[in-house]
Amino acid sequence: MTDTPAIAKELRRLLRNAHAPHSGVHVAAAVEAPDGALHYGVNVENAAYPQGVCAEASAISAAVTDGQKKIVRVYVASSLPGLVWPCGGCRQKILEFAAEGCEVVSLGADGEVGRQTIEQLLPLGFRLAPGEGHRT
Ligand code: THU
Repeated sequence: MTDTPAIAKELRRLLRNAHAPHSGVHVAAAVEAPDGALHYGVNVENAAYPQGVCAEASAISAAVTDGQKKIVRVYVASSLPGLVWPCGGCRQKILEFAAEGCEVVSLGADGEVGRQTIEQLLPLGFRLAPGEGHRT
């Protein structure tokens, strides 16, 4: 069973590591593998703005680096008030590795928790072939 409060606490701690000198918005994310392992990431901005990397993309890179290419759950927290949800590009990146029913869990600073499946967040997302996730 996933310990959502503990993950929320860890993401709150990691927010301080985000590199966001341009927007001032700190984001932290974790992706959960089928075995329950968590891979973390924060947003890393760049003076050449489009070169910045979202927290979700950082977390996916960490998972893939660790040999993990299936995601059952994504957690996201930010320094903004309320719940944040992955941007459009990150929804597509999550879909690439999403296990059936992959869930995105948004964790607010006040303890609020929102849950959506990636299919709800990105209906009819782009796939190279019907039912295809990724090639290993
Ligand atoms: N950001 C993320 O890290 N994840 C998202 O899903 C949306 C936005 C970052 C990008 C940028 O560094 C900052 O938040 C403000 O847009």
